[in-house]
Amino acid sequence: MPRLLYVVGSPRGGASRSNTVASAYVEAFAAKHPDFAIDTLDLWREELPAFDDQKVAAKLAVMRQGKPDDAQRAAWQSVLAVVERFRTADRYVFSVPMWNGSIPYRLKHYIDVIMQPGLLFNLDRAAGYSGLLKDKRATVVYSAGIYAPGKPPQFGADFQVPYFDWWLREAGIADIETIRLPPLASAGDATEALARACGEARVLAAR
Ligand SMILES: Cc1cc2nc3c(=O)[nH]c(=O)nc-3n(C[C@H](O)[C@H](O)[C@H](O)COP(=O)(O)O)c2cc1C
Repeated sequence: MPRLLYVVGSPRGGASRSNTVASAYVEAFAAKHPDFAIDTLDLWREELPAFDDQKVAAKLAVMRQGKPDDAQRAAWQSVLAVVERFRTADRYVFSVPMWNGSIPYRLKHYIDVIMQPGLLFNLDRAAGYSGLLKDKRATVVYSAGIYAPGKPPQFGADFQVPYFDWWLREAGIADIETIRLPPLASAGDATEALARACGEARVLAAR
C-alpha cells in the first residue's frame, strides 16, 4: 500500500499554523487517495536516536566502505529503522516553522539521522553528491513570525526555506510543492491568511 508520511515540525499541535495547513493538506489527500496509508511522525512526541559518536563512526565507516565494528553496527540499527520509515514512503508532507532564522532543532536532528550514505545519497569525490530517492513528491508548509522575502535585514534572514529545499533535493526529491504562510506580523488578517493557505493546500492535495 502506498504511504504518505507527514512529518510534524512544530511542537504547537493544533495551535501551529504550519501544522494546521499541513493537516488540511493531509486530510484532503486522504479523501482523494483512499488507497494511501497516512503515517504521521510527530517529531515532538516520538524520540529519535541521538546521532552520537558510535553512529557518526558507523556512518563514516559506511562512507569509506569499511566495516563498522559490533558496537557501531548495533548503534546503526536504530538509525536504519528511522531511515526506512522515511525512505519507503511515497509522498511527504512537512510542517516547518522558522526558528532563529532556520528550522526547529528536532527537524534538523531528524535530517541528521536519516541522511545516510547508500540510503538517501551517494557521494563520489569527483562527481559530488547524488540523491537516491526517486519519483517522490514533497509538500512543505513554511511559517514565520516576522521574516518575509524582501524584508530588510533587521527582520531576519532566511536559512529556513533555502536549507530545507536544498536538503530535499540533495536526497533526490525534485518534485516539491511549497506553501509559504505570510508572517504573523504582516499587515493582512492572520485568520484569513491561514484559511487561504489551507485552501491552497486542499487544491494541491486534490491534484
Ligand atoms: C524558538 C523560536 C524561534 C523563532 N524564530 C523566528 C525567527 O527567527 N524569525 C521569525 O520570523 N519568526 C521566528 N519565530 C516565530 C515563528 O516562526 C512563528 O510563530 C511561526 O508562526 C511558528 O510556526 P507554527 O505556528 O507553525 O508553530 C520563532 C518562534 C520560536 C518558538
